[in-house]
Amino acid sequence: MAPTDMAQTRRAAVTAPNDLESYWLPFTPNRSFKRSPRLIVRAKDMHYYSADNRPLLDGTAGLWCTNAGHNRDPIVAAINRAAEQLDYSPAFQFAHPAAFELASGVAALAPGDLNRVFFCNSGSEAVDTALKIALAYHNVRGEGGRTRLIGRERGYHGVGFGGISVGGIVNNRKFFGSLLAGVDHLPATYSREHQAFTKGEPQWGAHFADELERLVALHDGSTIAAVIVEPMAGSTGVLPAPQGYLQRLRAICDRHGILLIFDEVITGFGRLGYAFAAERYGVVPDLITFAKGVTSGAVPMGGVIARDGIYEAFMRGPEHVIELFHGYTYSAHPLACATGLATLELYRDEKLFARAKSLEPRFADAAMTLKGQPNVLDIRTVGLAAGIDLASRAGAPGLRAYQVMERAFQEEGVMVRAAGETIALSPPLIVSEAQIDEIFDKVGRAIKAVG
Ligand SMILES: Cc1ncc(COP(=O)(O)O)c(C=O)c1O
Repeated sequence: MAPTDMAQTRRAAVTAPNDLESYWLPFTPNRSFKRSPRLIVRAKDMHYYSADNRPLLDGTAGLWCTNAGHNRDPIVAAINRAAEQLDYSPAFQFAHPAAFELASGVAALAPGDLNRVFFCNSGSEAVDTALKIALAYHNVRGEGGRTRLIGRERGYHGVGFGGISVGGIVNNRKFFGSLLAGVDHLPATYSREHQAFTKGEPQWGAHFADELERLVALHDGSTIAAVIVEPMAGSTGVLPAPQGYLQRLRAICDRHGILLIFDEVITGFGRLGYAFAAERYGVVPDLITFAKGVTSGAVPMGGVIARDGIYEAFMRGPEHVIELFHGYTYSAHPLACATGLATLELYRDEKLFARAKSLEPRFADAAMTLKGQPNVLDIRTVGLAAGIDLASRAGAPGLRAYQVMERAFQEEGVMVRAAGETIALSPPLIVSEAQIDEIFDKVGRAIKAVG
């Protein structure tokens, strides 16, 4: 082959995804995807663009993460500047200024004395970090007998072994062995019978928190290190906490010296109309996990925010000795920190959290227009998130929602997420009122079309 031909072939191999076999897609039915790929090639503000250049209204903020909208100029500029200035600095034994600045910025948004920020690269790492901090915290205080972790059925806490152990999704657990020992679960807080078609937090269900007292009675409180819950369970279909539920969990944890962890990987950075859902509910947890929205999805980043007392418990012993034996090569990566700083500025300048709050009633009303459509069994909303439960097709659980997602992408020009039997919606916080209507109109048409 002549050199110019070879160069052309190489370029084609790089630019055209003409071989779909090598890439093993995560959390995706690979064979059906590869038969009819949904390829996205660029994005701006509220829209993605498909490989055939069709605009797709983003009803999902990517994967619950692009809260500031896509390819926003200040974020893109910050990424470019950071890439030119500092590619990498070691995360252990050295640091760079943006790491401290971002930690201060995140801490300033967190409630109470949640002032100490540990960085990692994803929500899964954030969860495993938080669980490890909780165990180690008790250990350094001489309560090493507190080894049990409590999660919740229908909880999603990422895919690390810690996260799937405290998580409550059968398929995420059953293939992967015996998981962490000493984990127990609270019941899920959802009941269609008592909560169907609720806007915001359901009135019924606070009593599910009392199940923690049952677990304390079973295991003895002195063996339990921490309880981890999502304030709104996102991945299993948008299940807002019932009114009073999180407050009750807090009170029970306090009674028994158990740490309370809010997994705010989805709810952090404005999804429920506040910087963190903890503020919406007036509950101060001991640890908050975050990821996704901290960089508006533009660069991977996650982290854990800890109360002062937790950090201080570790600051003992000789000063040259590491206090917490944990961290990642890319903790506080310079590119992620610069992106996070630009993102937090954008949230502040455009008041996007308050915007989400003020749009919440409009969003909820628009979602409820789908009530009464064939196969719609329930609709739940909270903040700028909605879950629409569809009836299963006989013998094919999840198929109808998957078909709605496909139809929405291919025919209606809107991105939605299929999660089991639920269509989940969570647009970027810059969404306009007209675009909210457009999302639900299109989803309604897709639901009707797939029948
Ligand atoms: C509540 C929660 N925790 C953890 C995770 C895991 O985050 P990641 O996919 O970045 O590892 C997610 C992801 O959706 C999540 O929703």
